[in-house]
Amino acid sequence: MLAKARVKQGAERVRWMTHDVGLPLPFPNRSYARVLSALVLEHIPPARLTPFFSELGRLTLPDGRIVVTAMHPAMFVKGTSANFRDEAGAEIRPQSYPATLSDYTTAAVNAGLGIDRLAELVVDDAVAARNERAARWAG
Ligand SMILES: C[S@@+](CC[C@H](N)C(=O)[O-])C[C@H]1O[C@@H](n2cnc3c(N)ncnc32)[C@H](O)[C@@H]1O
Repeated sequence: MLAKARVKQGAERVRWMTHDVGLPLPFPNRSYARVLSALVLEHIPPARLTPFFSELGRLTLPDGRIVVTAMHPAMFVKGTSANFRDEAGAEIRPQSYPATLSDYTTAAVNAGLGIDRLAELVVDDAVAARNERAARWAG
């Protein structure tokens, strides 16, 4: 994923790094107005969720915002977890940890964060029409 991202337009403006989010992030306290975690939550062991959210809080300015996206936990019930195909077409299925919405929200609150908004979103026709890859998740 990083190799593909690095050759995208504008990639030279991004500082790329490889880092295990189960470990403290190498950034100073209170240094960002916005922090985004996209689709990584399910790969964090349940016992590490509160430390993970604490770490996001540590990086964020007091009036900043953190946005976290995750595959909906209902997908675990349906037997789905994140999976990819490599260049050769072989399936890659990174370790995922089933969790519930309350596991995630409780971990965030226990880390001292407030929740402004919690949205459970479905891929609808408009999203599916905009993104070919999303279409397989319609409904
Ligand atoms: C579904 S992808 C999301 C990638 C990207 N954030 C996005 O939104 O397109 C999940 C990514 O999390 C990475 N990942 C899994 N465990 C991780 C960990 N402990 N630390 C950092 N990244 C991890 C995987 O390698 C994979 O690239």
